[in-house]
Amino acid sequence: MIEICQFGAGRIGRMHAENLARHPAYRLRYVVDVHEPAARAVAEATGAAVASTEQALADPAVGAVLIASSTDTHADLIEAAARAGKAILCEKPIDLSRARVDACLALAHEAGVPLMVGFNRRFDGNFGALKRALEEGRIGRLELVSITSRDPGPPPAAYIEVSGGLYRDMMIHDFDLARWLLGEEPVEVFAAGSCLVEPEIGRLGDVDTALVILRTGSGRLCQISCSRRASYGYDQRLEVHGSKGMARAENVRLSSVEIADEAGWHGEKPPHFFIERYAAAYRAELDHFAACVQEGKPPSPSGEDGRRALALADAAVESLRTGRAVAPV
Ligand SMILES: NC(=O)c1ccc[n+]([C@@H]2O[C@H](COP(=O)([O-])OP(=O)(O)OC[C@H]3O[C@@H](n4cnc5c(N)ncnc54)[C@H](O)[C@@H]3O)[C@@H](O)[C@H]2O)c1
Repeated sequence: MIEICQFGAGRIGRMHAENLARHPAYRLRYVVDVHEPAARAVAEATGAAVASTEQALADPAVGAVLIASSTDTHADLIEAAARAGKAILCEKPIDLSRARVDACLALAHEAGVPLMVGFNRRFDGNFGALKRALEEGRIGRLELVSITSRDPGPPPAAYIEVSGGLYRDMMIHDFDLARWLLGEEPVEVFAAGSCLVEPEIGRLGDVDTALVILRTGSGRLCQISCSRRASYGYDQRLEVHGSKGMARAENVRLSSVEIADEAGWHGEKPPHFFIERYAAAYRAELDHFAACVQEGKPPSPSGEDGRRALALADAAVESLRTGRAVAPV
């Protein structure tokens, strides 16, 4: 059993804690949240104890941490956990500053602890099947990747303000998927963005509707389409096109029932949002982290994957600002 401590008992923290409590490889020992009632509620629901950061990290029985607190706390917690010798699973993004991300990666490496980043979409069953088809050569030589990612509605302004903006907060998942599927590093990023959904997002200097084009060294192309709005539910689709054919992963629906009448064919919506859509992927992510801790498997997605996805997001922000294609560094 891996004795684990979780930081953050908010929206995604509640779900992770419940998954950890039910998982045979883990014992959720502590829940830490600066908002004490949130920590208490999650601890009571999962049989864990409430602790402070210092108490939890000082306990030698704790072998791992899951960081699901607000983004601006991740780097401090990674550094403290690495110094205490704990294996780390951290939600995306690692941090919004690349210098800070580099420091976290260096410290985790020095401490010899695994650092995995919560890019949960790599663990989705349909996306995994598409990736396997690609690797088996079923579509031949890869040429184009298309990623569609639209949220059912925009988050509150308070979230946008500290999120780092659409490219670093939301599209970062798609940058990771793009690298995972392309099999080569993008060398050029071109971004376009508008505020068409929520004027307050524009006033905060962010966009809510965005397109990015990535080009790799060999010329493979990827387009990413993101919106903070989708009237028909959380829209998550992938398509890869190559010399021999095409593979695509369509939206998962609440049921496979279709009803046909004189107005046409009608089907169910996709699940509402990420917690519902990726429920199985979040559990599979925990399976992989357990294998990293118990069997020494290298974490994938790793801290380096987190750093590279952030580099693409930074390049997209720069491209939006300048109107030019930007090489990620
Ligand atoms: N992988 C995904 O699909 C996914 C989805 C949503 C959010 N996230 C990421 O998860 C993180 C949390 O997002 P959320 O939507 O749950 O936010 P949230 O605001 O609902 O919850 C964050 C929690 O962290 C707590 N917190 C703040 N500082 C803390 C500290 N120093 N120590 C312990 N707890 C602290 C807050 O009190 C709050 O309860 C963010 O980094 C976000 O980017 C990932």
